[in-house]
Amino acid sequence: QSNVVGSTLLYPLNRLLPHTLSPSLPGPPSLPLLGNMLELTRDHLPNHLTSLARHYGNIYRLYCGNTTIVVLSSAEMIREALVKKWSDFAGRPHSYTGDIVSGGGRSISLGDYSEAWRTHRRLAHSALQRCSAQCLHAVIQKQALGLRQVLMDYNETPVDLSEDFTVAASNVITTLVFGKEYDKSSPELQRLHGCLNEIVSLWGSPWISALDSFPLLRKLPNPPFSRLLKEVARRDDIIRSHIQEYKELCQDEGTGGTITASLLQSLDQPLGEKERVALTETHVHMATVDLLIGGTETTAAWLGWTVAFLLHRPEVQCRVYSELCTVLDTRYPQYSDRLKLPCLSALINEVLRLRPVAPLAVPHRAIRDSSIAGYRIPKDTVIIPNLYGAHHDPAMWIDPYAFKPERFLDGGRASTRALLPFGGGARLCLGESIAKMELFLFTAYLLRDFQFLPSGNKETLPDLTGVASVVLKVKPFQVIVRPRPLT
Ligand code: HEM
Repeated sequence: QSNVVGSTLLYPLNRLLPHTLSPSLPGPPSLPLLGNMLELTRDHLPNHLTSLARHYGNIYRLYCGNTTIVVLSSAEMIREALVKKWSDFAGRPHSYTGDIVSGGGRSISLGDYSEAWRTHRRLAHSALQRCSAQCLHAVIQKQALGLRQVLMDYNETPVDLSEDFTVAASNVITTLVFGKEYDKSSPELQRLHGCLNEIVSLWGSPWISALDSFPLLRKLPNPPFSRLLKEVARRDDIIRSHIQEYKELCQDEGTGGTITASLLQSLDQPLGEKERVALTETHVHMATVDLLIGGTETTAAWLGWTVAFLLHRPEVQCRVYSELCTVLDTRYPQYSDRLKLPCLSALINEVLRLRPVAPLAVPHRAIRDSSIAGYRIPKDTVIIPNLYGAHHDPAMWIDPYAFKPERFLDGGRASTRALLPFGGGARLCLGESIAKMELFLFTAYLLRDFQFLPSGNKETLPDLTGVASVVLKVKPFQVIVRPRPLT
């Protein structure tokens, strides 16, 4: 598993550029030629990088070819790099194959920091906000009710809910982006997900990342690489036809409340005083890819983790349910109810803490010489914000590996300041506000209407270790979903 992955948008670590070493930083011994490359191929990389932090400290270096990677595993250091010194560390590493999957570096998630990137991100951000203000709440509520019906139809038979969570999360994004939602069995949805997942997993394969470090290999036949090119072409066809279809629809109906409409309109606007860079349709195309990839597996994985943890501590489920009944009586929750529902908020925070679904964020690159925690960090050093490690830092969290939502309640002493599940600074997750509303509403709807029960005896409780690739997911498990009396 050579993909180091950051987020949904991942950046395999071994595709990086040369730069100077940083000799004073601690780190594991490195092998001739390979450096510490093998460390990056370990199973459950976030766990492994965290165990190295316990040995070498919350800031240490790894060598990968002629690249230095600095791993940060404390909230304070991650904040220093991403927030306080954001302008030093807002870059992304460049790579040959990264350019292929990101439309020549023109995606928001993998694009390097530049004036064009800033304009791109700003336009996507305002399109997202505009569209969210108009309809996000209603879109999520509709999907939550749809999910409720699907769960009712299971009639308490043991089921694996991961696909249902993916469809619900994906429909929120496709509605915002294209004004479209899909049925679980829709071939169009299967095609889109199949292709995006394949790209993420192929891009992480060693056969493909080797092309970044050893350019001569690009001349040899490489079937996985040929498949990657085919999948990227397929993805681009699907997105292009959506955008085209969307343009025609807008012409016919003269409407356009979606993100795509907003982005397309911004292409026709004259540049503002401060803007010197015009965006192209490729930018709209890649923003669409960013939102679809970024917004689907993350939210779905988080829902999977929530159910898994609740099966291990059913009393937490009872507490949240009784809070929902007391505060809301029989009505469904609104996002504005969140401050009145501290147990639910504590549950959400604790799952984000224990299983940040983008455990290593997306690698950053120092765009100039700088420093972190007093160590000199030369330009082009790659920074891995180990969010998983920071969320398990024993200096910050009492009993860091235990699932205890109560740590965030009165008297629990834990502070959300040390939580960084969405990263921070210039590269803060673009979908943070969407994700927060989704996590709240989906969870509140689910726990109001259903009780989640283990599908068998204690041995069948979900394994909580997880599978870490781009996104940190729970291993497949089955659950019985029992409707509550209110439903
Ligand atoms: C980036 C977390 C949901 C879109 C990121 C990053 C993290 C993250 C840690 C990397 C930040 C960095 O590089 O420092 C999460 C979590 C989610 C979630 C925990 C849900 C539980 C979403 C959603 C969307 C989205 C719903 C879209 C609607 C993006 C994009 C980026 C990103 C486009 C790249 C930002 C950039 O490079 O400037 N996310 N995310 N994410 N996320 Fe999310």
